Amino acid sequence: MSILLIGFMGAGKSTVGRLLAEQLAKPFRDLDQLVEEMTQKTIPQLFEEGEAVFREAETKALMAALGKDQVIACGGGIILKEANQALLQAHPQVVYLKGQPDALFRRIQKDEANVRPLATEKTVAEMQEILSPRLPLYQSAASIEVETTGKAPQEIVQEIVERL
Ligand code: S3P
Repeated sequence: MSILLIGFMGAGKSTVGRLLAEQLAKPFRDLDQLVEEMTQKTIPQLFEEGEAVFREAETKALMAALGKDQVIACGGGIILKEANQALLQAHPQVVYLKGQPDALFRRIQKDEANVRPLATEKTVAEMQEILSPRLPLYQSAASIEVETTGKAPQEIVQEIVERL
């Protein structure tokens, strides 16, 4: 069965997901990458066509990935669509990587390799406006919650393994 990692941008879903997959000897899959492969477009290109276009593609990728025995790092907005919420709530192993807003925003800013259309040129107040309404959605979709701020990735992985 797949193990899904959810949480805001900058929570470390890909880093922790890779390590977790290694430890559990399962393949790792980044849902954003799967979206790019399925659509043959980059995330910024999809956002240029409209956020709804990206969200549709993201749901298709989630459905394609769910049934496989792998660790999946979901994009931060996976909880926004009701259909995805239902899929996540029905899934027994959904891990929410929580983080203090300051730590999340700092990590997003530092991560220049990853282009995130929703976070580009945003103030802290604007990022907070994106984050706040999502918090209850992450919580209601998750079966396990792990605080990440101040912890090393390997420490977070251990905590997840103990609680799966
Ligand atoms: C998004 C998060 C991104 C990516 C897209 C939208 C979001 O993934 O799916 O840019 O809405 O939070 P990461 O959480 O991996 O950065």
